Amino acid sequence: MGITIKDLLCDSAKYAGLTITVKGWIRAFRSNRFLQINDGSTLGNLQAIIDFNVFPEEELRKLTTGASVAVEGQVVTSIGTGQAIELLVLRFEVLGLAAAADVQKTVMQPKRHSLDFLREQAHFRFRTNTFGAVFRIRHAVSYAIHHYFHTNGFYYLNTPIVTGSDAEGAGEMFRVTTLDAKNPPLDSAGKVDFGKDFFGKPVNLTVSGQLEAELAALALGKVYTFGPTFRAENSNTSRHLAEFWMIEPEVAFNDLRANMDLTEDFLKCICRFVLENCQEDLRFLDDRDQQEQSQKPQHERNEWSLLERIQFVVDNPFKRLTYTEAIEVLKNSNHYKKKKFKYDVVWGMDLQSEHERYLVEKEFKCPVILRDYPAAIKAFYMRANEDGNTVAAMDVLFPGIGEIVGGSQREERLEVLQQKCLAFGISEKELWWYLETRKIGTAPHAGFGLGLERMIMFLTGMTNIRDVIPFPRTPLNASF
Ligand code: 4AD
Ligand code: MG
Repeated sequence: MGITIKDLLCDSAKYAGLTITVKGWIRAFRSNRFLQINDGSTLGNLQAIIDFNVFPEEELRKLTTGASVAVEGQVVTSIGTGQAIELLVLRFEVLGLAAAADVQKTVMQPKRHSLDFLREQAHFRFRTNTFGAVFRIRHAVSYAIHHYFHTNGFYYLNTPIVTGSDAEGAGEMFRVTTLDAKNPPLDSAGKVDFGKDFFGKPVNLTVSGQLEAELAALALGKVYTFGPTFRAENSNTSRHLAEFWMIEPEVAFNDLRANMDLTEDFLKCICRFVLENCQEDLRFLDDRDQQEQSQKPQHERNEWSLLERIQFVVDNPFKRLTYTEAIEVLKNSNHYKKKKFKYDVVWGMDLQSEHERYLVEKEFKCPVILRDYPAAIKAFYMRANEDGNTVAAMDVLFPGIGEIVGGSQREERLEVLQQKCLAFGISEKELWWYLETRKIGTAPHAGFGLGLERMIMFLTGMTNIRDVIPFPRTPLNASF
């Protein structure tokens, strides 16, 4: 494998004086002399110096922004500021031109493109500093997650993407079928006969691997899933994707408190890992974040920089309180008294994003774990509390994001679970395999789901979830 620009810039002393070849894409070519090359391995560019007297003009003309090049030269200590080393070019070859007029007129314009524009240019946005940084951090986060679980004795479990089960019971699923949409087979009642479909029954893209993960946890002890998840909710917000990635640990013998401890430790570890390993990209995004903040009206600005926000999560305990306490806090707030919430606050309701953000950003000014939610607004599998009204659920709320994690202790008592199925209209026949675990050595257990993209939003300061996944899928959009 060739030398990357990251190798060169991180370990410049090792390469000084050597003649090497580097391949990458031209970011800029100034004064017919200074070539900035980026190969994606790192944010920084390599400066290559071309003596324009040595090379024919027609070759030099090919060196335009966006073109790919192989450059051979000698590594020397830079006399200019801004870089420790540079390359004195002996030979170069343009591997791919970037000369097409339409490209030059649009994406290659040397200006700052808007994020909206870049979303329509999936191929080009990878070439920008911002998205380079975001996707390198996305990689680092994924690695940190696997590392965390591996070192803590968890087993990585692959749960199915095509599934007949509806874990969340929310009914917001994508149907997977090979039936002819125009002319599907019908049963005697005139309904679509899914018995004739590929799997012989209706199936969907998974909304969660949790139910399957519970089966594994009740044998392997500690497991986690990390995979694509699909929700057909028609919410076109900056925090929802139709296809996102979820991490779902599930642990036998954990109760809700242990589940909260695990979540907090896990989230802190990811933050610490990124602070330690992605410094350059983070500093770049921190600057970007500060520029963005400075353009907002004073009252909407973040008091803290991106780096401070991440460090704060690492250094401080999360605030823990019950849903019922949170409702009290909201009702007693001046914000509520001055009628500044759009939605009213009543016990039993699902908290709106404005309420969650008030708690995190105005009231406690730190990440918050809310627990013990009303049973009626949470999924059937959550463990019923003694009070009869609430379940052992927990949501983690993050500044600027709102809900980042949802989890619970699971209902391990067969009869209670059966009653819940009945109350929620869930077919025991369909879920026989899940219920069966409550008959053979059932045990307390708990788990949670982290939305990968929401975590990356927090770590990069990007405010639209479409900008932290390479190919976003949202209502009416599945381009590329
Ligand atoms: O709260 P949710 O729906 O929880 C579950 O699916 C449980 N089965 C998890 C578990 O206990 N194993 O989703 C978990 C997290 C949310 O907190 C959020 O971060 C993310 O998944 N999420 C989404 N992210 C992007 N787009 C969407 N449409 C999302 N829906 C949920
Ligand atoms: Mg949730």
